[in-house]
Amino acid sequence: MTNKEIKIAYREYESLEQLEAEERKLADAAIDAMKNAYAPYSGFSVGAAVMFEDGEIVKGSNQENAAYPSGLCAERTAMFYASASRPDKAMAAIAIAAGQKGVICGTPATPCGACRQVMAQYQAKSGRPMKILLVGADRTWVFDKVDDLLPLIFDSI
Ligand code: THU
Repeated sequence: MTNKEIKIAYREYESLEQLEAEERKLADAAIDAMKNAYAPYSGFSVGAAVMFEDGEIVKGSNQENAAYPSGLCAERTAMFYASASRPDKAMAAIAIAAGQKGVICGTPATPCGACRQVMAQYQAKSGRPMKILLVGADRTWVFDKVDDLLPLIFDSI
């Protein structure tokens, strides 16, 4: 028997001003996307923004439903829209911001397992690392690839 350890690396920024220009643009898009959340049940608004390799950005937000499981997280709304509308473009990054009543969480909200798995799929489809920005009011975390949020990714059979 051997004990193993997996380490993940990410960067923490204390303010959005510290991000590089493209990252800042994507973070702002995720914050803006929160406005379009439809969250009558949880009251928790989540915005996500996907940036393609060429810099274009598309947005998504969480969409809830009276039949709860029929709703969808912001990240998957954004990624499915990105792939459905621009099937031949590689996704380079995704930013996520969340909060209540227009106030962004201090510590970033982290994506659910299902959204991480979908990120893994589009990272593989894109054939390049997908950067993930988790945007919070007090700190923002940047992961260089999905693997860092989903170690030991299931990506093929
Ligand atoms: N939600 C997201 O949009 N993304 C996540 O990664 C986790 C949760 C949404 C789903 C639901 O509309 C609300 O947040 C509360 O769970």
